[in-house]
Amino acid sequence: MSESRATGERPAVDETVVRVEHLTKVFGRRAREAADRLASGASRDDVAKLGTAAVIDASFEVRRGEIFVVMGLSGSGKSTLIRMLNGLLDATSGTVEIEGERVTGVDPKRLRAVRRSQVSMVFQHFALLPHRTVLENVAYGLEIQGVERARRLELARDVVRRVGLEGWEQRLPSELSGGMQQRVGIARALCADTPVLLMDEAFSALDPLIRREMQEQLVELQAELGKTIVFITHDLNEAMFLGDRIAVMRDGRIVQIGTPEEILTDPANDYVAQFVQDVDRTRVLTAASVMEPPAAAVPVTVGPRGALRTMRDMQISGLLVTGTGRKVLGAVKDRDVLRAIQRGVADLGSLVDTSVPTVAPDTSLSDLPEIAITSGMPIAVVGEDGRLLGVIPRVLLLAALGNVSTDTSEFAVVDMPPAIDPLLVTQTLDATEVPDAR
Ligand SMILES: Nc1ncnc2c1ncn2[C@@H]1O[C@H](COP(=O)(O)OP(=O)(O)O)[C@@H](O)[C@H]1O
Ligand SMILES: [Mg+2]
Repeated sequence: MSESRATGERPAVDETVVRVEHLTKVFGRRAREAADRLASGASRDDVAKLGTAAVIDASFEVRRGEIFVVMGLSGSGKSTLIRMLNGLLDATSGTVEIEGERVTGVDPKRLRAVRRSQVSMVFQHFALLPHRTVLENVAYGLEIQGVERARRLELARDVVRRVGLEGWEQRLPSELSGGMQQRVGIARALCADTPVLLMDEAFSALDPLIRREMQEQLVELQAELGKTIVFITHDLNEAMFLGDRIAVMRDGRIVQIGTPEEILTDPANDYVAQFVQDVDRTRVLTAASVMEPPAAAVPVTVGPRGALRTMRDMQISGLLVTGTGRKVLGAVKDRDVLRAIQRGVADLGSLVDTSVPTVAPDTSLSDLPEIAITSGMPIAVVGEDGRLLGVIPRVLLLAALGNVSTDTSEFAVVDMPPAIDPLLVTQTLDATEVPDAR
């Protein structure tokens, strides 16, 4: 997981960029009084009548070039904490410094200057300007800073490319998928070119596959641009994947700070232990974290010939078949499809084996092997609405369970060897339907 990055191009300088000391936030009219009581040992419940203690006595430092993850259940105070880092929320007590500059207790003008030069923020849901193009949206921060138009569009173009949106510069937000819109948000934050990036559940609304892709891209961007990132999530897998260090929050307090390995192997208390309960590699990894894009799937409407062609192109012997709304109908095997074509069957749906296993994205790997071995087919990962999200080939599963790399490119062919006799195919099908065997 994070191993591959420990050896990466992270700057080795151990320099503090964000410094947080005894930071407390109480919502309520008697916040100050509550904070004083908390400071002298009162519990969150003790002060409940005075206000909601959202963050209590948080202290930590974030080093340059680090991805610092704050993880905790909903309501544990993560958003409140991150909003105090850039002064969106005033602290009740305690201090925040970014690049040595105070963020807490400074006048609004000073605060705006710090925000402009030091911190950008990406939210889970943020507003893109609907009538402006992708490029203009990305350049928006620079516009506010008064950067001249040609210059800001040039800078924005570069960032758009970095987040993989090249070619979409002139589109409107409504023409983009949710994942792409999120990239625009990230591009906008990157465009401001601040050393610190704050991300509050920035990927939580995305489909698992896109989310995974974004996580990988963030790690790449970080390595490339050397940003210091504070990333908030309630998702353990995401925290483990992204975090150089993780702070675990509970009821407003930071209960442990450590590397992913430390959090896993040496949880500070029962709460953390429960969070990472019985974690071994098979449990940290979920179906969503190992699945592959559902390339080995076709809509039922392609018919037997279309299915066979796809299997041949991909050199695989089985395919998932989907119906309306990308719902999984089942799977077909090459030999059955071939026989059907020979018999003149035109309906792919009639050939589908419905016993193909489907699992939810958050199914842990430890629950998968039995299903896989009994079925002999790849596992379909489906969303709540039955929509196909990804596929887990059997060999991938075995690799993930053993101590083997989960990079599966080398296994794809081994898993499902081409079982179609190219000669037979060309005899059976006309040349326009299926291209010649390679
Ligand atoms: N503006 C607010 N006014 C009053 N209470 C709030 C406000 N914002 C957050 N809270 C409370 O503070 C606590 C922490 O919330 P939050 O920081 O949003 O947690 P998280 O981001 O971890 O889900 C919760 O009990 C929440 O209800
Ligand atoms: Mg939140």
